[in-house]
Amino acid sequence: MSDNIPGADVGLIGLAVMGRNLALNIADHGFKIAVFNRTTSVMREFVVENPDTPGQLIGCATLNELIGALRKPRVIIILVKAGAAVETVVDQLLAAGLERDDIVVDAGNSNWNDTIRREKQYADRLKFFGSGVSGGELGARFGPSLMPGGDPESWKHLAPIWEAVAAKVDPATGRPIPGAAPGKPVRGGIPCTAYLGPNGAGHYVKMVHNGIEYVDMQLISEAYDLLRRLTGLSPGELAAIFLQWNRTELDSYLIEITAAVLAQRDPARPRKFLVDGILDVAGQKGTGQWTAASALSMGIPANSIAEAVFARGMSALKEERVSAARKLKAPPAAKKTGRTGIEAIRHALYCSKICAYAQGFQLMRQACRQYNWNLDFGTIAGIWRGGCIIRARFLQKITEAYQRDANLVNLLLDPYFRKQIRAGQESWRRVVMLAAQQGIAVPAFMSALAYYDAYRSAVLPANLIQAQRDYFGAHTYERTDAPRGKFFHIDWPDPNRPQREV
Ligand code: 6PG
Repeated sequence: MSDNIPGADVGLIGLAVMGRNLALNIADHGFKIAVFNRTTSVMREFVVENPDTPGQLIGCATLNELIGALRKPRVIIILVKAGAAVETVVDQLLAAGLERDDIVVDAGNSNWNDTIRREKQYADRLKFFGSGVSGGELGARFGPSLMPGGDPESWKHLAPIWEAVAAKVDPATGRPIPGAAPGKPVRGGIPCTAYLGPNGAGHYVKMVHNGIEYVDMQLISEAYDLLRRLTGLSPGELAAIFLQWNRTELDSYLIEITAAVLAQRDPARPRKFLVDGILDVAGQKGTGQWTAASALSMGIPANSIAEAVFARGMSALKEERVSAARKLKAPPAAKKTGRTGIEAIRHALYCSKICAYAQGFQLMRQACRQYNWNLDFGTIAGIWRGGCIIRARFLQKITEAYQRDANLVNLLLDPYFRKQIRAGQESWRRVVMLAAQQGIAVPAFMSALAYYDAYRSAVLPANLIQAQRDYFGAHTYERTDAPRGKFFHIDWPDPNRPQREV
């Protein structure tokens, strides 16, 4: 199928949903793209089904054909399942004749440690580059958010393609520019992509994006649960509330799709809402866990991100929960609050969301130290304004916060966010109290509030922990009246030995 004339701008391996949509997006922007899929019939059908793309699609039945179709240095995007498959494909490409200056871009949801390792592993044979891609199927097709990381020289070759195919935001408002259609991509605007740093930086930022995505989704589900249980409104009525919320500072893709999800009737039982027919067991593919594990390993308090992952774990214990529900006593049933609580829940959601993002950015700050990266947080917030799953009006505010102060220690300290939390915190606390009183599990709301209260505490009870550690293990402690870094220990009395009265 290949015309075998070297000259394609880019190659793409892996024509599953994300791969085929990204390939069409690239072709829409006039690039000549050579495509390969392990199952050749999938590639053939794909090329036949899409005859009129502005840029040419060149179907390649073998990797040798793919390599032969590309101009040098070759750029090949691989969109295969994260894990061992990535190395298998790269090794096959090397065996098929890929050269040292050629660039292989792993655009899957790979673990950043794998990307760091692979860059080193292949360093003298090719240029291995990692790029996060967010936005699901439609994002890939009409404008994703792209988070590239690798060597800066390779980026020079990738930038024209990445900047063309990424989602675009309006320079004046920071809002996504809508309207891309097959063959008619959006032109102009600020692309939702930027070079983020060397080796695993792109995949790390994508992973944190997903960690935040997990909390965003968990917070919205908790808000939905509270609304439902406190007001007694139906999913259809709640859809209208989420639509209203989408006209406030909560305006975001996830709130928008929540409204659509809640309004959806069940095709199998048209009088019912589909959400009520969906089993309450959440799946996960691992990026949320990686984010929480990275936070744990670096000692960074990303507690709401971790809670969101644990909440999915708790949901998976369906049978245990059903059995425990019969045995573990709930508090006495309380009266519904009616519509009066709706606005308070909205405030609670917004304040919690601010804390979740503060945690994600704090985590990336620490990752800079750990991996010697120089991530630009204003840029990261900027490229999340469009295309990705967490795109939201609020990301313009984060972009502005880091433009005001590139070295902002924590998002909570930015004047805009301080003001927002000041305005919402009374409602936030009331909502969390109400949930506790009524026995409604809101782990993300509660952990976000705990994060806020701990972060604003000049004094925490960790002094007691230090004393206990010194007591049982002579682990030593620092004193409030001595310089930091000077450690003390005392011989603690044995509780089993009778003490002399003082
Ligand atoms: C995106 C998403 C995507 C992710 C899905 C599913 O940015 O487009 O983050 O990369 O794979 O959201 O993730 P889970 O299966 O772990 O929920």
